[in-house]
Amino acid sequence: MDQIIGNLIVRLEVIDSTNNYAKQQIMENELAEGTVFLTYEQTSGRGQQKNAWESEPRQNLLFSIVLCPDFIEMRRQFQLSKVISLGIYSAINKYVSGVKIKWPNDIYVGDRKLCGILIENSVMNGVLNNSIVGIGLNINQTVFRSDAPNPVSLKMLTNQHYACEVILTEVLSEIDKYYCMLRDGLDERIDREFLTALYRLNEMHLYKSEDELFEGQIIGVNEIGQLLIWKKDGKVLEFHFKEVEFLQL
Ligand code: BTN
Repeated sequence: MDQIIGNLIVRLEVIDSTNNYAKQQIMENELAEGTVFLTYEQTSGRGQQKNAWESEPRQNLLFSIVLCPDFIEMRRQFQLSKVISLGIYSAINKYVSGVKIKWPNDIYVGDRKLCGILIENSVMNGVLNNSIVGIGLNINQTVFRSDAPNPVSLKMLTNQHYACEVILTEVLSEIDKYYCMLRDGLDERIDREFLTALYRLNEMHLYKSEDELFEGQIIGVNEIGQLLIWKKDGKVLEFHFKEVEFLQL
């Protein structure tokens, strides 16, 4: 197989978090790039910003991919985030319409979150040495109990039950495709596709930053992955993650 990602998939019945497990395995063993750790149940699934990640046992996809992207300089690490999101976006697009990438790297359908991504990078000599790419993709769960904003699953969207393993194979293959594009220097194509997939691109919406409410249009992201929002007064604002809140009008 000439795919990098998913040649080895380690399946675990229950663990705390696939990201934690992958991190531990990297320290203890020599792992082939693209190794995937998948579990059916997480007892301490982690989301962005120290949030918990909710998932009923066996209903959803919960996995982490180990990458060694030493061709990516630290200051360009958002490119990795782009290709991971694009891979998931592209796989999910075959199942439902209205899929978008909500900056920085959530997968949305309409205004609801279908998938979360937690990338943890380690840097050596200014390049990414190891990355653990944790993915939580909601497949068959229909009730969400945590206060996560607007969760949704494929089943809730389509009224169908899915075989998680089938979707896993498709997602890994699409991520592999985009990861190889990045390795091969096809950044222009990646940037173009990312922009096309971006949630709320060129639409007027309400945002909040430092207690200020404002209307603006997302016009893209810059080289370091900051979100660019054009404000009605003509200024373009740049935001790091968590510096801006998306509101509904
Ligand atoms: C987010 O908050 O949007 C990111 C969620 C990432 C969840 C996944 S589930 C598999 C992997 N293991 C974890 O503990 N977290 C990630």
